[in-house]
Amino acid sequence: MRFFSALVTAASVALVSAQEALRFGILHYSPTGPLTPNEVITVNYNSTPAFNQPLFVDFYLAGKFSNGNAAPNLLLSRNTYGASQTLLVQNETLPDFTFLGDVTYVVWASVIYSQDGLTEIGGVEGLDV
Ligand SMILES: *[C@@H]1O[C@H](CO)[C@@H](O)[C@H](O)[C@H]1NC(C)=O
Repeated sequence: MRFFSALVTAASVALVSAQEALRFGILHYSPTGPLTPNEVITVNYNSTPAFNQPLFVDFYLAGKFSNGNAAPNLLLSRNTYGASQTLLVQNETLPDFTFLGDVTYVVWASVIYSQDGLTEIGGVEGLDV
């Protein structure tokens, strides 16, 4: 019985995190592998599952130094998002962050949207595909 309720709890947590992941849309980028300075990547943001239509979508790099400290977030592009737009696919040239040293970056989308008369900001981490 205890095992069963643990399973149910794990399943609900997984469901909540899946919903949370979709709340601001889905972000994929390619190619796979570590992101390197000056590399060109293709980002694919899909707002279809998002709870609210984005007003703006910013793509940026978020990462950590090898010692675990947060590295600076680096803006890739700031984009106005159309009222009926569902997809934003574009190539981004990563900045030359060589001088930062040993840093591991992932791509994020910062999603700005309107809800209940407030302008709110959400974020979704990109998955490399
Ligand atoms: C990205 O760049 C590649 C290679 O130049 C090109 O084939 C592709 O059409 C570009 N994609 C977009 C969305 O601009």
